[in-house]
Amino acid sequence: MEEFDLVLRNGRVANAGDEFEADVGVRDGVIVAIEKSLMPGKREIDADGRWVLPGGIDSHCHVEQLSAMGMMCADDFYSATVSAAFGGTTTIIPFAAQHRAMKISEVVADYAERARKKAVIDYGFHLILANPDDTALITDLPEAIRNGITSLKVYMTYDRLRLDDHQLLDVLTVAAREQALVMVHAENHDMIRWIVNRLVDRAHTAPKFHAVAHDPIAESEATNRAIALSRLLGVPLLIVHVSGREAIHTIRRAKKHGAAVYAETCPQYLFLTAEDLDRDGMDGAMFCCSPPPRDKDSQEAVWDGIKDGTLPIYSSDHAPYRFDASGKLPKGKATTFKEVANGVPGLELRMPLLFSEGVMKKRISIKEFVALTATNHAEMYGLTGRKGEIAVGADADIGIWNPDREVTVTASKLHDNAGYTPYEGHKIRGWPEVVISRGRIVVENNTLNAERGSGMFLKRNPSDMLRSQVSISAAEARRTLRNLIDVGEKDGRS
Ligand code: URP
Ligand code: ZN
Ligand code: ZN
Repeated sequence: MEEFDLVLRNGRVANAGDEFEADVGVRDGVIVAIEKSLMPGKREIDADGRWVLPGGIDSHCHVEQLSAMGMMCADDFYSATVSAAFGGTTTIIPFAAQHRAMKISEVVADYAERARKKAVIDYGFHLILANPDDTALITDLPEAIRNGITSLKVYMTYDRLRLDDHQLLDVLTVAAREQALVMVHAENHDMIRWIVNRLVDRAHTAPKFHAVAHDPIAESEATNRAIALSRLLGVPLLIVHVSGREAIHTIRRAKKHGAAVYAETCPQYLFLTAEDLDRDGMDGAMFCCSPPPRDKDSQEAVWDGIKDGTLPIYSSDHAPYRFDASGKLPKGKATTFKEVANGVPGLELRMPLLFSEGVMKKRISIKEFVALTATNHAEMYGLTGRKGEIAVGADADIGIWNPDREVTVTASKLHDNAGYTPYEGHKIRGWPEVVISRGRIVVENNTLNAERGSGMFLKRNPSDMLRSQVSISAAEARRTLRNLIDVGEKDGRS
């Protein structure tokens, strides 16, 4: 029997389904043994008293990407993946973002080249689709999907990106045929635009009015509409960054009635509120993201959604912009809320915040933590078997978490390039002290040990959720408009 490259000894292993004491043996970047008392390895780490957990998967983060407002975000693939690694995340799935005049194949090639040279952990891509014309739908989108970009995000708001309902139906139809998962940014554009115009007319331009403009009803209306479109066609979808009680209720009700709708939430909806946007001067701009953080009641609704499975995905929606004229404040103190770059940083703190507030405060179990931060992402985005689990045959992507380590958050200790954190001063209990990516110890003793460009592109499979179509019954699927039209077409041809 060949020697192990690495043995993690005496730790407590947790997966989404079980937890147990075992040693973990790694060879050639892969987990090859999980047993008690493994024979010695070339390198050994004593994990006694610590958790041995699957490396996190952050399936919603914006890296080296032009935003909806046309601004380049502050992190490139190097700073973003380093930051992710320090927070226990070993896989990211950011967005190759098409803006309307861009050709998808060029967008993807450019993005792949940027990532290839810089990423220190593994990564896949989603596509952002802003122009679903014939070329995109017939040629470019199917090609991207065949190349392992098996999910795409569409927007119901933002002037530069939004699709109308007719376009959304087109995209859902192609996605279903090509086996891709559609992720939806669900906010009602005209409601927001109408409120923004009235606020600005009345000189209500401070950051706190961003939360007024992005009313929870705009979120729940668009959520309901997106679900209706998906039900019309019998095509699953995922609502991203769900923030408010009403949207959560809408999703839960639709699931109860058999709709194949999945949903994601983010740290900002658990740990921040709209009151943060009302900090002194322009400081509230640090917290402007869309949808915005809501109130304590919505935070409780998010915890409930996490507990009952309405919100199985917990991502960062890391969207980093510096707190200066290059990012959040293009016009300095005169910047109105509608000009503030949208988004908050969160790649590094996503997992520690949930570990501390969720696991350590007994709101969720360690198994739920693993599911929410890793395993469910692997299932949702076609990485099952490779990522998101401590299992023989899986990539050795692992975090060794010390539940007793206390950290007071401060921006200068983080590794992203935003230069501030919305969680400044938060006290966190529990931290990933050792982080391993495909068998390489990339973080240890608070030090990075990974080369630029050592991360690998992940050609992803179709989502497990599409293959199983879990919540659509055969009868309902037969009834959907998509199937009726397809049958009609076939009948017409025969
Ligand atoms: O405000 C946010 N969330 N910015 C990032 C872009 C997006 O819509 O996810
Ligand atoms: Zn979005
Ligand atoms: Zn986003």
